[in-house]
Amino acid sequence: MAGRSVVVGVGHYLPERIVPNSEFEKTLDTTDEWIRTRSGIERRHFAADDEKTSDLASKAAQAALDDAGLTADDIDAIVLATSTADLTFPSAATMVQAQLGMTKGFAFDVQAVCAGFVFALSNANALILSGQAKRVLVIGAETFSRIMDWTDRSTCVLFGDGAGALVLELQEGEGTAQDRGILAIDLNSDGRYKDLLYVDGGVSTQSTGHLRMQGNQVFRHAVEKLAKTAETALDSAGLSSADVDWIVPHQANIRIIQGTAKKMGLSMDNVVVTVQDHGNTSAASIPLALSVGKQRGQIKQGDLVVTEAIGGGLAWGAVVLRW
Ligand code: UT7
Repeated sequence: MAGRSVVVGVGHYLPERIVPNSEFEKTLDTTDEWIRTRSGIERRHFAADDEKTSDLASKAAQAALDDAGLTADDIDAIVLATSTADLTFPSAATMVQAQLGMTKGFAFDVQAVCAGFVFALSNANALILSGQAKRVLVIGAETFSRIMDWTDRSTCVLFGDGAGALVLELQEGEGTAQDRGILAIDLNSDGRYKDLLYVDGGVSTQSTGHLRMQGNQVFRHAVEKLAKTAETALDSAGLSSADVDWIVPHQANIRIIQGTAKKMGLSMDNVVVTVQDHGNTSAASIPLALSVGKQRGQIKQGDLVVTEAIGGGLAWGAVVLRW
C-alpha cells in the first residue's frame, strides 16, 4: 500500500473580457495572421480593472470544490502558483482562503512563473505524503495583463489572464504505476538564464516592471527541456511515452506543444490544446487546460496524464499522474 495524491475535483475561471488578435492590429505593427501562425493564439481573456488574481483564483477554487462535492471546511491547505499576486504581501493564497470562508489550515504562494503549477503540485504532493495535509487545493492564477509593455509587440500579444484549480486528496494505492494520483515528478531550474525571460522591476528594485522575453531563445530551450523532463518523470514512474493518454502542456506556443509531442513520439491526438483560446496564462495554463480537457470529455478517470511546463528562471518540470 502507498499513499497517493489523487485529483478529486477540477475547475477554472476566465475573466469575461475576450480580446481577439485583431484588437492589437489597431495599436501595434502586427497582424492576426502573424500571431496565429507564430504562436497559435487567436484570443485571450483580460481581467477587469478591479478584478485581482485572488478573485480569479477563488472562483476557480470554488468550481473545483463544487466538482469534488466538497466545501472549504474539507480543505487543509491551499498552494497557489502565481507571479502576479494582488499585493507584495500577504500571499494571494491567504486572500483566497478568506474569500472561500476557510478559517483553518494554511495557505501560501509558490512562484516559479510559467512552471509554477508543476512546482505547486509537487509542494502539495509533499504535504500530503508527509502527513501534513489530507486535502489540498492547488491553484494556478495570473493577471499577466498587468505586467505587459503594450508597446512591445513581441510579448504583449502572447499573454492572458485566468485561473484553474485542482483538489488533491490522500488515497491509498497499491504502490504501482496503475494507481490513481501523482506517480512521479521532475523539477529543474537554472538561474543562469534569467535574462531570457524576466520582469524588469520588483519590490527590491522599487517598481512593478514589465515582462521582457527573448522569445526565440526561450523557444529553443523549451522543446528540448520539456521533452526531457517529461521523459525523466515517466521513467521514474516506470512508464514511457507509449503509456501516455494525455499530455497537458503549458500553453505558450502551439509550435512548442507540437515539437514536444513529436520529440516524445506522440500524436497531437494525445495533447490537450487551449492556447488558441487562452494565450499564455503562465501558472494558470495547465490547470485551465486540465479543467477544459475534462469538460470536453478528453480526460477521463484512469487516464495517464503528463503535465509539463517551462518559464522564467529558467524553471521547468513535469508531473505524471493518473486521473
Ligand atoms: O511561457 C514561458 C515560456 N515562453 C515561451 O515559451 C515563449 C517562447 N517563444 C515563442 O513562443 C516564440 O519565440 C515567439 C512567438 C515569441 C516568437 O516567434 P519566433 O518565430 O521565435 O519569432 P522571432 O522572435 O524570431 O521574431 C521573428 C520576427 C522578428 O522580425 P525580424 O527581426 O525577423 O525582422 C520580430 O521582430 O517577427 C517579428 N515580430 C513580430 N511581427 C509581427 C515579433 N513579434 C511580432 C508581432 N507581429 N507581434
